[in-house]
Parts: sequence; C-alpha cells; structure tokens
Amino acid sequence: MKFSFIKSIGLLTAMSAAVFSHAIAQSTVLTVNAEKPGAAIQPTMWGIFFEDINFAADGGIYAELVKNRSFEFTQPLMGWKDESKDGAKGAILIVNEQATRPSNPRYAHISWNAAQGTYTLTNEGFRGMGIRKDIQYNFSVWAKAPEGDVKLKLELLNASGASIGGTAVTISGSDWKKHTASFKASATEPKGKLRITFEGKGTLDADMISLFPADTWKNRPEGLRADLVQWLADLKPGFIRFPGGCIVEGYELATRYQWKKTVGNVEDRQLIINRWNTEFKHRPAPDYFQSFGLGFFEYFQLAEDIGAEPLPIINCGMACQFNSSEVVPLDQLDPYLQDALDLIEFANGGTDTRWGKLRADMGHPAPFNMKMMGVGNEQWGEQYIDRLKVFAKTIKAKYPQIKLITSAGPFPDGELFDYLNPQLRDLHIDFIDEHYYRSPEWFLTNAKRYDSYDRNGPKIFAGEYAGHTQRKVDPDKKNNWESALAEAAFMTGLERNADIVQMASYAPLFAHVEGWQWAPDLIWFDNVQSFGTPNYYVQKLFSTNRGTHIIPVTAANKPLAGENGIYASAVMDSKTREVIIKVVNTGEKEATVDIRVSGAKNVSAAGTLSVLKSASPEDINTLDDPFHIKPTEQAISLKSRKLKTVLPAASVTVIRVKAL
Ligand code: AHR
Repeated sequence: MKFSFIKSIGLLTAMSAAVFSHAIAQSTVLTVNAEKPGAAIQPTMWGIFFEDINFAADGGIYAELVKNRSFEFTQPLMGWKDESKDGAKGAILIVNEQATRPSNPRYAHISWNAAQGTYTLTNEGFRGMGIRKDIQYNFSVWAKAPEGDVKLKLELLNASGASIGGTAVTISGSDWKKHTASFKASATEPKGKLRITFEGKGTLDADMISLFPADTWKNRPEGLRADLVQWLADLKPGFIRFPGGCIVEGYELATRYQWKKTVGNVEDRQLIINRWNTEFKHRPAPDYFQSFGLGFFEYFQLAEDIGAEPLPIINCGMACQFNSSEVVPLDQLDPYLQDALDLIEFANGGTDTRWGKLRADMGHPAPFNMKMMGVGNEQWGEQYIDRLKVFAKTIKAKYPQIKLITSAGPFPDGELFDYLNPQLRDLHIDFIDEHYYRSPEWFLTNAKRYDSYDRNGPKIFAGEYAGHTQRKVDPDKKNNWESALAEAAFMTGLERNADIVQMASYAPLFAHVEGWQWAPDLIWFDNVQSFGTPNYYVQKLFSTNRGTHIIPVTAANKPLAGENGIYASAVMDSKTREVIIKVVNTGEKEATVDIRVSGAKNVSAAGTLSVLKSASPEDINTLDDPFHIKPTEQAISLKSRKLKTVLPAASVTVIRVKAL
C-alpha cells in the first residue's frame, strides 16, 4: 500500500529539489554541531496527558472491578443483577439518605429468604472483570446487619458462569462497618463477574461493594492497575497533566471537576456522571461515571511515583464551551479561586495547614512540590480572559512561584486562537497551552511552526496533540503508522524549539478497546491486556532520549524540516556526554544520510541506533499483535566522527554517540 501522505511530501520534495539537487540521489549530509550547546531542554519537555475519557480511570487504570459499587449511578442498579432460583425470594430496596449522607446518599437494603433455593446478586464489572490466575482478590463492603448475622458467599465467575475462586464473609452488627475478605483466583478470565450468594434468611444494608486485585501498582491497597501504570513509567515522563481535558470543565458547571470532592475517604467522594457518558451519539457510554477512587491525592502520588511533575488543571468558572458554555459571574468567582488556592495548599502546604493536614492524613506528610497549575482547559473568548486575569492576580499574589498554564483554545489557528494568542502574551502569562488534533499532513507542514515564535514571550505547552488520519468517521481514526510518523516529524520541530516549547503531551492517553469514545489514543487496553500504539513508541523514543541541551543539526546550513521528506533534531546530554540525533524519513523510499558530528573534542566510535518503522502507513498495533511496530536497537560505529547510514522508508531513527 502506498503512503497516503506522500502527495504532500512530494510537493515539499519538489520545492526543495533545487537546494538538494545533488543530494537526492546520493546522501543528505547532516552536520551536528556539539560545540556550543544551545538552550536547556527542560526536564518537563515530554510529558503525559491524563483524562478520564475512554474508561481511562474507572474501568481502566483504577483497579476497582465492581461497577457502580455505591449504587449512585443514575440507574441505581446498573451493573447489578439479582436472581432468585428454586423457591428462594429476595428484593433490593435502594435507600436514599440524602440528609445524613450527602456525598454518598444511596445504599442497598437487601432482604431474602433462601431457606430453599438461592438468591444472588451479580456485578458485571466494566465490560467484564479482568481476573488473573493465582492473584489475590480483596473484597470489601460497607454494611450493617441489624437483624442478625448474615453470611455471604463470594465467587468469581468466568464467562461461562463457572466459579474461578471465592470465599465467604459474615456481616454482623447494626452499625456501618467495612467488612473484608480475600481469596485467590484459579483461572485467568477477561470477562469475569462477581456473584454474591445470600444464605439462609436475612436482611442487609450494603454500600461500596468492592473488589480489587492485590497486585496493584506498588501493591497499594485499592490502587491502580500495575500493567497500565507501567506504560506511563516507561515513558519517563517529565510531567503528568490531570484530570483533563474537558472533564475539568464539565458539560455544565454542576458537573465540573471539583478536586475537593475527590480527596479523603473513598466512600465519601461524591460520584458524578462522566461528561463522556453522553458526549458522542455514535459512542454512547451510559454506564460511564466518575467514582473518584482515582482522585487528586492519587494523581499527585502517581506523578511522584513515575517521576513526573504534577500539572493539575483547575476549573476557572467556565463549563465546556462545546456544551453548555455556562460561566460564573465575575463577582461570584470566589469559591473557584479558593479551590485553586486550597489546591496549592493541599499539594505543598505544611501539615499544620487545613489542606496540608488532609494530605498528611491520607498518607503523604511531605509536600508534593507542585510547581505549576493550569487555569481552565480549552477555554476561549473574552469571557476566558476576564476570568483568567482574576485567577492570575489571585494566585500570583499568594504563590508567585507557581507557573500558570493558560488556554489558547481548542485549535492552533483561526479566529479563537488569533484572539487569545496576543491577549495571553500581553498578560505576560507563563505558558500558553496549544492544542492540535490535525491531519498527518498538518503535522508535516507545521514542523517549523515554532521556528519563528517570539523567544521572549510566554513558553509553549503543546498540551494536546495527535495525528488524526480520518476526520469524518471516528472508528477509522486509527493509531496507525502514518499518524505516528507525522507526529515524530513534527516533534523534531518541538525539540528544535525547546527553548520556548517546554512541555508537550500526546492526547488522549488511554482507551478501553470496548469502551472508548475518542480515537486515536496512546495506549489501548482490555480488562487484562494492554498495548502501546506506534504513537506511544514515538513518544517513548523522544522522552527517553530527551537530552539536556539543544544542538544544531543542519543540512546545507539549514534546519532539516521536510526537505526530501527528512526531518531532524539533535540534543546533547550533558550528564551522559552523549549527542542524540533524531532523524525522521517520511518518504516512501529509503534515504541515505551522512551524519558528521563536529564541535566535540572526542567523538566515540561506538554508538547505538534505534529505528521505528513499518511497511505500510495503515499498520497498527493490536491486542493480538501488540509489537507489530516497535523500536529495534543496534550498535553502530562511526568513522572519523562520521556515520553514513540508510534511513528506511517511513522511519524514525535515534542515534546516540558519546561526545566528550
Ligand atoms: O483529548 C480529548 C479532548 O480533546 C479533551 O478533553 C479536550 O481538551 C479536547 O477537546
């Protein structure tokens, strides 16, 4: 199959033919000058964007297996099924104690008589429960049994309904209490279920019925799915942005993300609908809610675990402008401003402060050392600038050291961008967050976007980007090689301009193969497996070869950004004393490059070369073929500081050599 984007490359090739006329058939000479390393590359340069979209949190990275554990979904028994068999009787009454339990008002009052037959309650999980053989599973329930002890039989079922592990738990007492039980699974099953059998005759009040694997990330009780976090850790990300995305804004203000409702005891975190539940008619997700088991404490902890700077985004008094567009009047912003200030105290404050104490009570007395914060997500218009000014003034007055990230709107150009860009620059804001979900062609032709940006203005955060191969039909927007290659070409432009582009993150991050709303996404998973897309491996090649300083790489004394379909950038790592060169060949033919490293006293003869490539632009990774596209590494040797190498067609190459 032909590379579909070759047409646009062809134009570039023709345009540059004059300059490179004698180089086309032979090799392109690339000169890397290590003599005077340029601007520092910030440790934050390559990061990750986390949003609870595509079942990324509940049903994804948050390892809870029970869906609707607190009966707070709009339909209180969604995900649950009770069944009476062979003469048993049972019923569930949903009790709402709004007045006394405002954050978690509902619970199930279950009564049964199973003197004969069986009465059961089964939870289907998030498109099934991912169960793994020999792993311990920890069950818990908040319950009371005022009319006498009751015994519950717990079983994991496989897709055919056979038991693959279980135990029993006795509930006693007339006060709410957390009861627990653990057991091991005897088989692996991606579509498991949890069945509770109520024995004898009795009544029970139950809430927060929960089941977690024990082998979570860092083995934290009721924690995160270790296999999914590992993908993030492997990127060695410079930052993690959370919790989104549009989820920050909410469809309307009432469903905006309120971080204070996501910290403290999980049973007190107020569940709300996930805005992606209803967003796309073609991808309905009626069972998509936010339990906030993954809340702001857990996000900060995750950031710390994977060595990433935490970058929380707060609501600035504006609901999603693609939805309700509600705004809070300017004279009523105080609670929103207070949330922002209190968040800084939660992250950084002493344990003698109200919010710092909560952080300590949750298990983290040391500050999280948060250094930056986003004000609004994809906001635009005068209404944003008006609110941003108030936020910036208030936050900077108390915390001048906190860097503020501000929105350039949802698009990288056009009316909204053209209004915001100068406004933000006039405000001397720290960072402008630019988003681009664009075609691969856009990425190729915009690799020089930042070459001409104002070097003295705000820094740039490329906060959300992805190559979208089809703009009409979402299921066809695949994470294919065409999109990944174009992103890599563009990223050489980000790296070349790392003096002003100081953060970048692909978006969105995660998607459940059976539960997604938005594609493409960086990492896909089902209930037991996961895979990195070609786009993931592009991100990884850049983030794990970040370097510390930009160095020039030129062909015919110019940066290489599309000439002959080749894109290049280079960095120096002053710690390891290595020169790292990234070269992307977007052409459909292999290309020879003649790399010459100048400016260093000694250039080692030995180095490494990593290549990411694939035969067809349509190629993808899948659960069945997860490593169809992945980097390979080989040793290389330079002769007299020179390396002549063949770049395969449609490939990303990263070369590392010691240069002392
Ligand atoms: O990444 C998906 C969505 O794209 C984000 O929520 C939003 O910020 C953007 O429009």
